[in-house]
Amino acid sequence: MFRLTIVVFFILGSGCGSALPRVPAPLVTEPSSYEGAFSEFAVACDHTAGSEAGAEVLRAGGNAADAAAAAMLALGVVNPASSGLGGGAFILYYRASDGSLTFLDARERAPAAADSEMFSRREAELRAEGEDFSSRLSLPSQLGGLATGVPGEAAGIDALLTRFGRASRATVFDPAIRLAQEGIEVSEKLAHASENSIDRLRRDPVMNGWLRDGSSSLEVGQRLVRPRLADTLRAFAREGASELYRGSVASEIVSANREQGGIMTADDLADYEVRVREPLDGEFFGLRWVTAPPPSAGGFTMFQSLALLDGWIGAGERSNSVLWFHALAESWKGPYLDRARYFGDPDHVELPLDALMSPGRLSLRSALFDRERETPAERFSFPLPDTVEVHQPEGGGTSHLCVVDAEGNVAAVTTTINLAFGAGYTAAGIVMNDEMDDFARGVGLENAYGLPGAATNLPGPGRRPVSTMSPTIILNQRGPVLCLGASGGSRIVTAIQQVALNHLVLGLPLADAVTAPRIHHQGAPDVLRSEESYPLDEATLAALVRLGHEHQMIANVAVVQAIGIERGGSFRLIAVSDPRKGGRPRGR
Ligand code: DON
Repeated sequence: MFRLTIVVFFILGSGCGSALPRVPAPLVTEPSSYEGAFSEFAVACDHTAGSEAGAEVLRAGGNAADAAAAAMLALGVVNPASSGLGGGAFILYYRASDGSLTFLDARERAPAAADSEMFSRREAELRAEGEDFSSRLSLPSQLGGLATGVPGEAAGIDALLTRFGRASRATVFDPAIRLAQEGIEVSEKLAHASENSIDRLRRDPVMNGWLRDGSSSLEVGQRLVRPRLADTLRAFAREGASELYRGSVASEIVSANREQGGIMTADDLADYEVRVREPLDGEFFGLRWVTAPPPSAGGFTMFQSLALLDGWIGAGERSNSVLWFHALAESWKGPYLDRARYFGDPDHVELPLDALMSPGRLSLRSALFDRERETPAERFSFPLPDTVEVHQPEGGGTSHLCVVDAEGNVAAVTTTINLAFGAGYTAAGIVMNDEMDDFARGVGLENAYGLPGAATNLPGPGRRPVSTMSPTIILNQRGPVLCLGASGGSRIVTAIQQVALNHLVLGLPLADAVTAPRIHHQGAPDVLRSEESYPLDEATLAALVRLGHEHQMIANVAVVQAIGIERGGSFRLIAVSDPRKGGRPRGR
């Protein structure tokens, strides 16, 4: 178990986005404060109040679905930078009674009036008016009404509770309502996030009202009370999600979006649907990995990479060595390039997943691995032959949590409003998302995470933008052994994969697996990134550069929450909240 007191530096905001300026702040983490060992149930969130909300519901007799919903609701209150009812989520649920794994896609959708040129057109109009977009993350896909997708969070929570929950709505909603009504103390993390996003807070009367007179950020320890959100949560608890999709909250969302230059209509909200999808399910390193399918590209990236690694690195060579990091970086190049070419909403574009994952194509990629030398990313590209038709579209702040309950049900949830404080406006006390930036603003143009846009991922009516979010559950023959996921934009999946491999393949205790230094490579740019806050040792880094990798230091890679499930003699849960964001797990 990890027993050292360490000093870490974390990026502020919601842990997202290469475009976010970094404000390192020292955080002394108590030994084991970010990990807990439990024998009955556990909740790991990136904010302690989320873990507490989940644990409260479990203590009251709820199950993992109830607790995950309570944690999602609470997180939306206590961390308005990272998630909430104005955003969307992916939920992976393992039901112990029948061993089923269900994936709920509660991702935001583009409004019906969206089209493929909506962002290039608006950008050009604004430029003609003299806007140079020099203020941070202020493109029309990132800030204001056009940036907002039709939120899926409330419908996702409703679907999770209806399918799998058993507690009363009052029990599930109560912790979040109390937090909104009575207020929370602003954490160091939230204070810094608000400082980085001060323009977003100032432009909205509700968020501006949170700032003390003359202050340029929320202040650590200040009480943040959200009475309007408490009302919205009460209405949601009482009336169900229809309140947010057809009721008075829906009307407020539409008016706020319109005032902000958006195109959302009452019908867009009324028509919103959660999609139940088959999760990706594959065998690697002798374990069963179950994770997010499209519209996430995360699961696909993970599976391609795992398949290559499994072949490249022999059983005797598996350790956190230069070879390991080199192989990881090489393994991600191809799938990220595929994402930039082929990925889109599977309900609207033909996504040739089987062709992309075919053994033949994998072996072409596999053959490129050179232990002595980095191979340029474009060589991993291997476009599909023309026979595979790829349709072009016709017209057109994140948080991860895990819950395991006493019956062995497992919930892995990644929830997002995209950038910190989303699109910079509120409706009915809810911070609205800017998930539309996960679409391609134009073919080849990069989003806030530096991901180049595919033609298949241009906005269009009702489409869901491609995501990296990948809530994951890994199983052996006896059942789930690890639940995990991450926030951190394009770096979500590379972080998840490293933590899972560190723990399950390299044998590190879970807390060490989470705190180990990570790398990231996303094909374009052809650069290997490592973390400043959790640095790779100098000799490893120097060796990677000697292999030809161009290296860049970034603040951190992503924020991972995980629960390990030990099924030896007795049932034991090890829950870890990544110290990169400062949450703590709870359990019993
Ligand atoms: O769905 C996605 O991939 C992004 N909207 C996730 C953004 C994110 O992780 C923000 N960072 N903490």
